[in-house]
Amino acid sequence: MRILESKFVQGFIKMADDGFMQGWHERNGGNLSYRLKPEEVESIKPRLNSPGNWTPIGTSVPGLSGEYFLVTGSGKYFRNIKVDPEVCIAIIELDEKGENYRIRWGLVEGGVPTSELPSHLMNHEVKKRVTDGKHRVIYHAHTTNTIALTFVLPLNDEVFTRELWEMATECPVVFPEGVGVIGWMVPGGRDIAIETSKLMERYNVAIWAHHGMFCSGEDFDLTFGLMHTVEKSAEILLKVLSVTPHKLQTIQPQNFRDLADGFRLKLPERFLYEKE
Ligand code: 13P
Ligand code: ZN
Repeated sequence: MRILESKFVQGFIKMADDGFMQGWHERNGGNLSYRLKPEEVESIKPRLNSPGNWTPIGTSVPGLSGEYFLVTGSGKYFRNIKVDPEVCIAIIELDEKGENYRIRWGLVEGGVPTSELPSHLMNHEVKKRVTDGKHRVIYHAHTTNTIALTFVLPLNDEVFTRELWEMATECPVVFPEGVGVIGWMVPGGRDIAIETSKLMERYNVAIWAHHGMFCSGEDFDLTFGLMHTVEKSAEILLKVLSVTPHKLQTIQPQNFRDLADGFRLKLPERFLYEKE
């Protein structure tokens, strides 16, 4: 099958365009990666390019040795992915140690995978382990409202999770494990990748202060839907905070406990603290 026509490439392109349409990808902002299934690798293998040189990933992900990923290119614009995917995205293969990659398809006018490849791959490594291989998508976007919140809320997991949950009844159903937050760090390297992948041990959402968000999920719909839900909740919260510093009424801790019973969720008590 032609690589461009395969279902996972089409799903990837659609998700990238959906993200662009939301306004989350100014210029080259954001990046996306997908861990291919063995049968997908088999189906495209005859059409992969002959292997080029190995390049260091910049970190070590032994749990992903030999795996293939579809990734966005560094400096490529999400708005162009739908128009010219073979220029903007690439399929990479990892070596047996999980320390180097090589490009096997795409980036036909040159380029390299996203500068956030260390974060993507370290997140994939954690998620592959903790979800028994179910999670395949890691998505980073510059979500406007969530970024704005990192200037006005304390940068801790409990406050962010609780405030986002309160903004829409569906939120605790969509991200019952909560969200993680890290303070400002230099993007694009191993240090921020390590901090982000630590959060991915327990959450599917990691917020980077004054920068954006990372989400992990099983497929394109679930991962996009998660990002969309968190970002919409952040938008509601900003609207509320713009009108008043004090909510007149909100969803209370006991309401969340009742929701957990009704929807058979586990909502950690550390998010259901009493406010003064
Ligand atoms: P890339 O263009 O290298 O993917 O970087 C964009 C970005 O959002 C960095 O955090
Ligand atoms: Zn970014």
